[in-house]
Amino acid sequence: MKFFIDTANLEQIQEANDLGILSGVTTNPSLVAKEGVDFKDRLREITSIVREGSVSAEVISTEAEGMITEGRDLAAIAPNITVKVPMTLEGLKAVKTFSEENIRTNVTLVFSSVQALLAARAGATYVSPFLGRLDDIGHNGLDLISEISEIFFEHAIETEIIAASVRHPLHVAEAAKRGAHIATIPMKVISQLVKHPLTDQGIEKFLSDWENR
Ligand code: E4P
Repeated sequence: MKFFIDTANLEQIQEANDLGILSGVTTNPSLVAKEGVDFKDRLREITSIVREGSVSAEVISTEAEGMITEGRDLAAIAPNITVKVPMTLEGLKAVKTFSEENIRTNVTLVFSSVQALLAARAGATYVSPFLGRLDDIGHNGLDLISEISEIFFEHAIETEIIAASVRHPLHVAEAAKRGAHIATIPMKVISQLVKHPLTDQGIEKFLSDWENR
């Protein structure tokens, strides 16, 4: 499983990229709004840090025609832009067009395995099931990863599964076990993944033994 970072914050993207673990970035309108910057300028800045990995940029239109115009515009910013499209009938039409034009897509706000299958059949490069938001309403988000993974394997579907709306380290470990190709993770959770109390204790002990030699 690969790691993407789920943010539009440049410092965090730079930090994760410096760790050598980063294969891509996902943004969404809420994350971009939080930064208070021009969307396209920010995408240029992000793609100057992450030059090869996929950088997802979401369309705002709700009609296919608008999504297609917006998506083409976003895709022209850099070759590694992936157009993020919501899981709707209009979104599927847009994905079909993007797929014919070899523009990569990430179908977002996926909450069921059939939605993921539809997105894949429309030609999506990635599907993003949202774990945390399903957990929030009393469903098991991780079970959705298992279901999609099973269906894609059974039908030899190449669309990649991005575990999204990741809230804690267990989401990451379980998503990897259940067959997600990618987890897109906020910086806070990436930092939590690095930490283990026994690692900290071990370092402390090694250093104090070294000082007392
Ligand atoms: C994924 O691409 C989304 O940007 C993201 O994971 C949403 O997560 P949230 O539910 O924490 O907002």
